[in-house]
Amino acid sequence: MQNQPATAATLADLAVILRAGGLVAIPTETVYGLAADASNAEAVLAIYEIKGRPRFNPLIVHCADLAMAETLAEFSPLARTLARFWPGPLTLVLPKRADAPLSDLVTAGLDTVGIRIPNHPLALELIARTGLPLAAPSANPSGRLSPTTAGQVVAGFGDSVPVLDGGPCTAGVESTIIKVEDERAIQLRAGALAREEIEAAIGQPVELPRRSTAILAPGMLASHYAPHAALRLDAVHPTAGEGYLAFGVVPQGWTGPLRNLSPSGDVREAARNLFSMLHDLDAAGVRTIAVAPIPLAGLGEAINDRLARAAAPREA
Ligand code: TXA
Ligand code: MG
Repeated sequence: MQNQPATAATLADLAVILRAGGLVAIPTETVYGLAADASNAEAVLAIYEIKGRPRFNPLIVHCADLAMAETLAEFSPLARTLARFWPGPLTLVLPKRADAPLSDLVTAGLDTVGIRIPNHPLALELIARTGLPLAAPSANPSGRLSPTTAGQVVAGFGDSVPVLDGGPCTAGVESTIIKVEDERAIQLRAGALAREEIEAAIGQPVELPRRSTAILAPGMLASHYAPHAALRLDAVHPTAGEGYLAFGVVPQGWTGPLRNLSPSGDVREAARNLFSMLHDLDAAGVRTIAVAPIPLAGLGEAINDRLARAAAPREA
């Protein structure tokens, strides 16, 4: 049962699967997620197993609305202000409520929980129908590129998981993760919501964790989001045999494999295209993907973060 079109019957069937402890790949505005009932330890364990997730990184819990989110965590005034970005590509790490209906596997034993309300109508409807907060990491085998289309999910997992097809993801990179600690906002992961935009909304700086603080998002392993090909970053001139991931202008005379993240130089468009175009160049079979320099402002922060991880030395 793959690539489910979004009929009411499909949504009802998928809700039954989720309530019974099964897994369903769901569309969100960022990337596709591999979802399971966050209160069911067996179901959550199945996520780790099928992804081959090497250790128990905490998972993000997806809610249909603020009322559902409030059953899981304590919301401080700052957290409430940040929650105005919901539904949207922002994950809040908040103190977990003692009575939260969550398996400890979801939080990896931490006393905090990562929550978001995704901005995708089908995801919201499925969560609401299921009536359960859904734990969902990105729907890719561990260490591989996050999927931004239903087809990429099927390429990763075959027909072992039903996929609710909600079209290509509009944001294309994962959510920004903000930990709310007292009245401080600490960015654990750059993502599809720009730090500048968050700062404008809360009227205070978003802090970046010091490098030594290993807390933080334990899933942020150095090598991650890796294509099969090696990556060469800040490449202004691709060389023969490489694939080129351009941003803006394409070097004159380049006839090798090419994708352009944004011909007009728009970081938002580039974020949306990033994983898909890395997938494409990977599928072209090149050994190295040369990547043009990407500016750091706005969503450029998330793009550069993902590229640095994709280029990092791989674990054996
Ligand atoms: O856009 C997204 O966030 C996507 C879609 C599916 O929602 N999900 C996603 O999940 O990217 P995943 O599992 O690939 O990344 C979750 C990240 C990990 O780095 C994990 O360590 C961090 O969130 N995280 C989750 N709960 C946390 C917590 N309580 N404290 C610190 N970090 C947490
Ligand atoms: Mg992931």
